[in-house]
Formats: sequence, C-alpha cells, structure tokens
Amino acid sequence: MRTIEWNNGTVETIDQMKLPKEVVFIRMKTCGEVAEAIRTMKIRGAPLLGASAAFALALTAFHTKATNRERLFQELQESEKAIRKTRPTAVNLFWALDRIMGKAQAFSADCAVLAKFVVEEAKRIADEDVAANHLIGRHGAELVQDGDVILTHCNAGALATVDYGTALGVVRTAWEQGKRIRVFADETRPLLQGARLTAYELKRDGIPVTLITDNMAGYVMSKHMVNMVIVGADRILKDAVVNKIGTFTVAVLAKEHKIPFYVAAPKSTFDMSKTSAEVVIEERTPEEVTVIGGNRIAPEGVDVFNPAFDVTPLEYVTAIICEDGILSKHDFSRFDA
Ligand code: MRU
Repeated sequence: MRTIEWNNGTVETIDQMKLPKEVVFIRMKTCGEVAEAIRTMKIRGAPLLGASAAFALALTAFHTKATNRERLFQELQESEKAIRKTRPTAVNLFWALDRIMGKAQAFSADCAVLAKFVVEEAKRIADEDVAANHLIGRHGAELVQDGDVILTHCNAGALATVDYGTALGVVRTAWEQGKRIRVFADETRPLLQGARLTAYELKRDGIPVTLITDNMAGYVMSKHMVNMVIVGADRILKDAVVNKIGTFTVAVLAKEHKIPFYVAAPKSTFDMSKTSAEVVIEERTPEEVTVIGGNRIAPEGVDVFNPAFDVTPLEYVTAIICEDGILSKHDFSRFDA
C-alpha cells in the first residue's frame, strides 16, 4: 500500500503521528493543508516530503480558478513559498519544488495545459520514488548475507517514502530473497519514529525486529549482536550525510566496532551544491523532548536543545546505496547528481 495517493484533486496519506495506535487517513485538498501536515509531522521522511511538496503544487494547479498561465504560475509560486517554509533540512522537498517550478516556468502552453502538466509531474515524482526504492533494495540486498542482523535508526521505510522504503527497502528485498535476517530498530528519541513506525512496518510484514532504546546501540554492537548498519538520509552532501538526530552516534559506534555503516537513499536526496557547514539543521519545539505520550517528564522551564538531524562525515560511511548502485565514498565524491 502506498503512503501517499493522488485521487482526483485530493491527496490521501496516513497520519504518522497517530501510528501505531491508530491507522487514520487524512485527505487534503489545499497546499495549506499539506504544509500543515508536514509541519506537524503527520507527513515525514525525506522522499515522502519530496512527493508531498509535489502534490501540494498539484493541488494548487488542479483547483485553480486562474484563467491565464501567468496567474496560475503566480499561485504556484505562492504555494512553493509556503512549502519551502515547512521544514528546512530534507533536500527532497526543495528538489521536488525546483523540478516542478523549473519545468512550469519553461512551459509556454495555456493555463489548463500547465495545470494538467503539474499534476502529471507530481505523479511522476511519486512513481519514480517507488521505482528508485525497489532498485535501492535490489542493489543493497547484494550486501546482505543470510543470517545478517541489521541495525537501523529512525524510519527509512515505506512510511518515509511513497512506498517500499530505502533502508527498509534493502531489508525487504533481502527478506523477499529468502535471507533469514533480523533487524534491531533504535527507538529514535524524541519522536520515536523507530519505535512507532519502523517496528510497526517490520512487524506488519513479518520481518523479525527487536526494538532498543537509542542508548543501547553501543552495548548491542559490543556484544556482536549486529553486523551491519543501514540508515536513510535527509541530505547527502559532498562531505557528509545529514540524517535523523542520533545517526552520527550510531556511525561512530559502528566505526569503533568495525561494523559497516551504509546509507540508502535515492538521488533526490543528493545535494552536491553544498557542504555540511551550509545546511540548516532544523530545531524543533522543547515539548518534543520534555513530554512523552502526553506526560511531562522534565521540570517546567528547563532549557532544551532539540535539533532534529545530525551530520555524519563521509569518513564514517562505508558506502551509499542509491538507485544507480552502490557508491563507495570515492565514487561518491565524483558523483554529479
Ligand atoms: O524528522 P523525520 O521523521 O522526517 O526524519 C526522517 C529521517 O531522518 C529519515 O531517516 C530520512 O528522512 C530518510 S527516510 C527514507
């Protein structure tokens, strides 16, 4: 089942903040509703943010009352601006907006044709993501042996993408190939994407998964309980991989224990134009840290630092698995997305 669907002027997705307790679908008809769903983490995960940004523009195009091309383009620019302000780190969101707006700008046809094009381009972005994930799965599964135990962080699964997943796409393909693998899922504080989403997805698919808190990863590695790490990415730069907070800690631990550390991501996550010093790391509200499941766990008024992502220098990354294949650090630094 797809995480996001276009249905004749409505975008349907699962409210990821309600999982795994409840499976609630949300239906959005405006760009503003998509922006709000992104801000509130009902929609999350880098590739899904890309597809959602594209569908937000598609909603604007589909429901426009504009009668000329210039007016529709203005409306698309307003929607683009609103989506750009939602979350700053995952490059896929900006990549999808740039792709559609760049093509829309070069478009000389009339309003109705442009509107149709925007909708079709958004659907293409979503379909391409699914195809990329299956390829990532196929390439990555070559690295996985029967009996391997894989540690993952956050949720880089079907829920973070349009379907199938990146890191979990590799797990799924290896499992479909009959390899008897197991997964350790870091719970991923503060928003618990590992506990809520990765554990949910893998359990649903019958793939063996063991949940640990983030601070158990070192112990698990020291006891030789995992032999490979696979994570997703929000932005892959010339010098580093940006991913969910805690990824860098896992990478350092993996290096210390000589465990290979792989990053699985589509090329829509690559940003060769920047280095890590130039990327905005999103900081989110203190309540995500001080409150768990509606219960306050820290004293009122305590200072909180809540960066949503961290930066793992490429020296910690064994290889990057993308739809084109497995890129070593050296291939990667020459890569031109
Ligand atoms: O804050 P989130 O849940 O959007 O962060 C998601 C991650 O960090 C994922 O690991 C990343 O987007 C890769 S998803 C295939």
